[in-house]
Amino acid sequence: MRLRLRELAVDFRGPDGSRLPALGPISFEVVTEEFVCVVGPSGCGKSTLIRALAGLQPPSSGQALCEGEVIDRPMQPFAIMFQDANLMPWRTVLDNIALPLEIAGISRAERYETVLNLLPQLHLERFALAYPAELSGGMSQRVALGRVIVQNPRVWLLDEPFGALDALTREKLSLELLRLRQRNVQTVIMVTHDISEAVLLADRVIVMSRRPGRLVADVRVDLPRPRLPDMIFDDKFLQLAKRVRADIESLGA
Ligand SMILES: Nc1ncnc2c1ncn2[C@@H]1O[C@H](COP(=O)(O)OP(=O)(O)OP(=O)(O)O)[C@@H](O)[C@H]1O
Ligand SMILES: [Mg+2]
Repeated sequence: MRLRLRELAVDFRGPDGSRLPALGPISFEVVTEEFVCVVGPSGCGKSTLIRALAGLQPPSSGQALCEGEVIDRPMQPFAIMFQDANLMPWRTVLDNIALPLEIAGISRAERYETVLNLLPQLHLERFALAYPAELSGGMSQRVALGRVIVQNPRVWLLDEPFGALDALTREKLSLELLRLRQRNVQTVIMVTHDISEAVLLADRVIVMSRRPGRLVADVRVDLPRPRLPDMIFDDKFLQLAKRVRADIESLGA
């Protein structure tokens, strides 16, 4: 699905009641089946951008559009993964992943069948009946990702999906994400603070300025697919990662 931000800006009220510009104005387009990573300094408005695209944050000015239609409410073909895994501690892995299907009114038998078929792809088949407290950080993130995939959305909005994980687990999970996506290619917008991860996964990397986040650079990543772990040692990869780093560093300390 084609997404577009047109001069989108979001302001909040600061603690003293004054206007706090959080995001933009920012404009860019994402074409169908494109994978776009968004990087930028902490607090620059990345989560706000994701929430605006998800229809959860009304813009103060400008618009977010999907297929030319203004996004003014949560839309059916979108699924969002928030910055923390946000699992319900009283529900098993099976019931956490099945939650969106339950909300959609799908019968218990049908939703369990769908989730049980998905669990092996997430390497969670032995943990269907485990509770979130029994999972590692990486497993919890895989459950949260499962909750996105199970909805079969046309657009994935991922806000630092691997935020709290160590470098090797991140790399493994991010390549798994590409594999899971290959089965049913979607449009993806993913926030990350990791430059290598952004270049390894994306077709384009968008660099945002400090708050209120505007577009600083839009870097096309013309590396072949499928992306493989060893690509991070290729000259082309290193050049692109350097370019993105330079764009971030140009923002100043
Ligand atoms: N609901 C809110 N009410 C008031 N201010 C908010 C609200 N949500 C975010 N902000 C402010 O808007 C700015 C952007 O926040 P946002 O969470 O989008 O940043 P971010 O780029 O995702 O940061 P991080 O990389 O740390 O996750 C911050 O200054 C934050 O304090
Ligand atoms: Mg954030």
